[in-house]
Amino acid sequence: MKNVLITGASGFIGSFLVEDGLKQGFQVYAGIRKSSSRAYLQDQRIHFIELDFTTRATLCQTLEACKKNNLRFEYIVHNAGLTKAKKKEDFYNVNCQNTINFIEALIATDMVPDKFVFVSSLAAYGPGNPDTGEPVRLSDQPKPIELYGKSKLDAERYITSLKEFPWLIVRPTGVYGPKEKDYYIFFQTINRGMEPYIGFKKQILTFIYVRDLVHVIYLALASSFVHKAWFVSDGKEYPSELFAEITKRALGKKTIRFTVPLFLVKAIATVGEHVAGLWGTIPTLNTDKYNVLSSTNWRCEVEPLNKDLEFTAEYDLEKGVAETLAWYKKEGWI
Ligand SMILES: NC(=O)c1ccc[n+]([C@@H]2O[C@H](COP(=O)([O-])OP(=O)(O)OC[C@H]3O[C@@H](n4cnc5c(N)ncnc54)[C@H](OP(=O)(O)O)[C@@H]3O)[C@@H](O)[C@H]2O)c1
Repeated sequence: MKNVLITGASGFIGSFLVEDGLKQGFQVYAGIRKSSSRAYLQDQRIHFIELDFTTRATLCQTLEACKKNNLRFEYIVHNAGLTKAKKKEDFYNVNCQNTINFIEALIATDMVPDKFVFVSSLAAYGPGNPDTGEPVRLSDQPKPIELYGKSKLDAERYITSLKEFPWLIVRPTGVYGPKEKDYYIFFQTINRGMEPYIGFKKQILTFIYVRDLVHVIYLALASSFVHKAWFVSDGKEYPSELFAEITKRALGKKTIRFTVPLFLVKAIATVGEHVAGLWGTIPTLNTDKYNVLSSTNWRCEVEPLNKDLEFTAEYDLEKGVAETLAWYKKEGWI
């Protein structure tokens, strides 16, 4: 039975990685922090490892202790990461520096796995060209438009410089599903009868349902590939109105539709950032968020993923949203 270590196991995607690993018969090691919630990690078969990524020395100590107990991880999914941060430097520290610390510690302790999957993001490459509507391709020059994406790209640049280390990279587009808390705000808004849009230009979104993303990651681990990266989406594209339409249908709601002009969003983001900056923090609506919200082309190339891993998404948005909303309702979130 193979051992798989999943970092960021307490989070949305991490908890699904844990669940699926157990289902597939792996010995699953959940990499968490002292402060991490175990609410979604209740299965008795889960082994826990506290990982402090902030220094190489503490990571080495933990990994040495594993080694002493004859514990080796055949597979590692480095999924821990920050998608939102209180301070700008947190993005680099958590998404890039912690990844460097972790890999250096694995190498220093001779604990390099057979396969290491880094969970990056489409944000590392940024959106596609708004004029041509072309998807972002593997061969494109990365052009992240916010600090989050830049920090993922910095981590990727370190990882891809490693010739002996068995890395793979997945770059999911927007991930949604049960337990998720960002798209949840949109679902809640629709449920309250409001249908907001930002800017008047047509926006094309892409998605991947969390269970499909987890499937991709296990396919990548089991594959013979190393030193490869893939964008991950369900292969379809969704105008933002369709996302709202699917949600309204699933919730059986009628809504009032309104559009907030881009200049207003930008003004609020700029002023908010300026004020919050005085305390060294980042407001929820900031210029990075504005850049993301105002980008109109989030298409990405998935043919290499479909071909290499023989992957076809099981969930389109309609099926995934229905399952997600059913979960939110069951849990009383909606
Ligand atoms: N959700 C998306 O749409 C999406 C899209 C593309 C890529 N991704 C990537 O997928 C990964 C998981 O994201 P998610 O959506 O599941 O986010 P999430 O629910 O916020 O989970 C993040 C996980 O990372 C851990 N983590 C955060 N900072 C850490 C630190 N300093 N040290 C150790 N662990 C830390 C968290 O631990 P605690 O519970 O202790 O905070 C949590 O387990 C991230 O790398 C993210 O960049 C997400």
